[in-house]
Amino acid sequence: MLKSLTDLYEEQLQDMYSAEKQLTEALPKLAEGASNADLKKAFRSHLQQTRAQMARIEQIFKMRDMGPGRKKCKGMKGLVEEGAEVLEESNKSAARDAALILAAQKAEHYEIATYGALRTYAELLGETEQARLLQTSLNEESETNELLNQLARTINPKAESSR
Ligand SMILES: [Fe+2]
Ligand SMILES: [Fe+2]
Repeated sequence: MLKSLTDLYEEQLQDMYSAEKQLTEALPKLAEGASNADLKKAFRSHLQQTRAQMARIEQIFKMRDMGPGRKKCKGMKGLVEEGAEVLEESNKSAARDAALILAAQKAEHYEIATYGALRTYAELLGETEQARLLQTSLNEESETNELLNQLARTINPKAESSR
C-alpha cells in the first residue's frame, strides 16, 4: 500500500530495476538490428552502462534491506515492444536506424523522468549516498540521450535521401 514518500521511493526503485533489466534484454537486439556502426556502438556501450545501473540499484536495495520484488515495469514493457515492432516492420536501412533512435530516446526519457524523481525523493529522505548513486545513473541517461541526438543529426537526413 502506498502511504508515504518512502513507499513511493521503494516501489519506484523496484519499477526502475525491472525497467533496466528489460533494457538489458532489448539493447542487444537493437544493436543487432542497427546498420550505422556508431549507432551499434552506442547501443552496445549503453548495454554496459545499463548493467552498471542495475548494480547501483542493487546497492541501494542492500542499503535499505529490501529486494527487487516481482513487479514488471509496464511502461518499459510498452517501450521495448515498440522497439521490437520497428525491427519487425523494417529491413536494415537508415530509416530503420532513425526509428530505432527514436524508440531508444523514448526509453531514455522514461528513465530520466524516473531517476530524476528517485534522486529527489532520496534527497528528501536524507539518503545522501543513495541520491548520489541515482544522480550518477541520471547523468548517464542524459548523456546517452544527447549522444542519440547527435547520431540522429547524421542518420535522419540519410533516411530522407534514401527514399
Ligand atoms: Fe538505464
Ligand atoms: Fe538508458
